[in-house]
Amino acid sequence: MLLVELNKANLQLSIDEFLAFTKIQKYELLENFLLVDNNLKLDGLALTKKAYQVVDRGRLKKIGSKEFFVRDFWTNTERFEDRRSHLRPQPHPTSLHPRLARAVVNLAGVKGLIADPFCGAAGLLLEAGLAGHEVYGIDSDVIQTRRAKINLAHYNIKDFEIVHGNALDLNKQVAAIVTDVPYGRNTNVKDLKALIKDFLVVAAKNTKVLVLMLPSDIKLDFDDWKVQGTYEWYLHKSLTKKIVRLEKK
Ligand SMILES: C[S@@+](CC[C@H](N)C(=O)[O-])C[C@H]1O[C@@H](n2cnc3c(N)ncnc32)[C@H](O)[C@@H]1O
Repeated sequence: MLLVELNKANLQLSIDEFLAFTKIQKYELLENFLLVDNNLKLDGLALTKKAYQVVDRGRLKKIGSKEFFVRDFWTNTERFEDRRSHLRPQPHPTSLHPRLARAVVNLAGVKGLIADPFCGAAGLLLEAGLAGHEVYGIDSDVIQTRRAKINLAHYNIKDFEIVHGNALDLNKQVAAIVTDVPYGRNTNVKDLKALIKDFLVVAAKNTKVLVLMLPSDIKLDFDDWKVQGTYEWYLHKSLTKKIVRLEKK
């Protein structure tokens, strides 16, 4: 058995990332630990910190009222901090933190082509590419598409296509769309809610799985989509992001 230690700050997102990534269905939750009965491949997870193997003799680990003998099995050695936007050749303030970007890519739980039709400087696509996905991005700002290409090439991502255009013109069948819509001062979008509503219709024609990130104060009906999980990620005092995992009805 494994005892898997998750990031406490975003516990539900950590759990769902783990379940989508490993595809396991049987588990027990003990505080911020999952007890699972497989030897799993964990490399690539963002919000899982460590895993211990439960053994007959070993170090004593207490979780609440339960006690386990454990030995170290796996430690997360991904260098997310080293890939933060300001450390990339083409930084941009709206680019997602790599740990969050990887977590939402994993939350999609798919293999194959991932699209981000509001790709910006490719913070999200970079993590998808490093996780082994083929990636496709669109941005309406040609400077952003240039930034995206330079960033992806810098990290040696080979299977990418970046297009200058409108997300609403997306016309490509993909395993999942994972995207972070424009927001705040960094955008000239007049009516974000209307843009997202139109985008939900376009997305449903191109994929079955959509992980959407949006400002938390925007309330929407998801019409053609079934909501499978909603999470919040605090960025700073004027911005908390809502993350919604959707599957086509
Ligand atoms: C929040 S940023 C994306 C950041 C990106 N996920 C990252 O981590 O680097 C949103 C992007 O959407 C682009 N955008 C705004 N309206 C658009 C539209 N209608 N179609 C495509 N891109 C659009 C903006 O130029 C901006 O680069």
